[in-house]
Amino acid sequence: MTLLRLGVLASGRGSNLQSIIDAGKAGTIKAEVAVVVSDNPAAFALERAKDNSIPGFCICPGDFTDKVEYEREIVNILNKHQVELVCLAGYMRLVGETMLNAFPNRIMNIHPALLPAFPGLHAQEQAWEYGVRFSGCTVHLVDGGMDTGPIILQAVVPALGTDTPDTLSARILEQEHRIYPEAIRLFSEGRLQLDGRKVFIKSHP
Ligand code: GRF
Repeated sequence: MTLLRLGVLASGRGSNLQSIIDAGKAGTIKAEVAVVVSDNPAAFALERAKDNSIPGFCICPGDFTDKVEYEREIVNILNKHQVELVCLAGYMRLVGETMLNAFPNRIMNIHPALLPAFPGLHAQEQAWEYGVRFSGCTVHLVDGGMDTGPIILQAVVPALGTDTPDTLSARILEQEHRIYPEAIRLFSEGRLQLDGRKVFIKSHP
């Protein structure tokens, strides 16, 4: 059985990375994390990579003349590890043309709100401040915008009167850990079909 090779980009604690690693190990997705790349040397995601014997690299944007050079280095690493699908998991940068062109419609992201509501930073807090009754999370394909790409999966999480941004974030995170591996599974089974900005999920062949 061949496993889909994933490259995960993460800037922080890496709990979504962990959920993807775990799903691969459990066999619920036919995919394996082939490499982890971070822009932050202190990212706990790099520790998780090490603990799971996955090659991990820190590529600091400050070491490059511009974003093109920075992303070229990331693309080199991803290609060296024969990555087929790139998963952004708490990667705190906008993806540029260099990566988009290297992996067309093969970059996914997870966002902690029901897009197109509350894109950008601190989405859970934005939703809580706004007073929504429901929020959630979204897995989408990445384009050049900020959380604007075609939506693959969403999960709805009720916002309770007793919630704080932290309690709401924690319940959203549980759903993130469920739908990100699920989206990867659909991709690995060749079941995602893009039509314009709509993603259709094909039934099993
Ligand atoms: C998650 O809430 C994800 O939706 C957002 O950044 C956070 C990353 O968390 N894009 P983690 O590093 O995966 O724990």
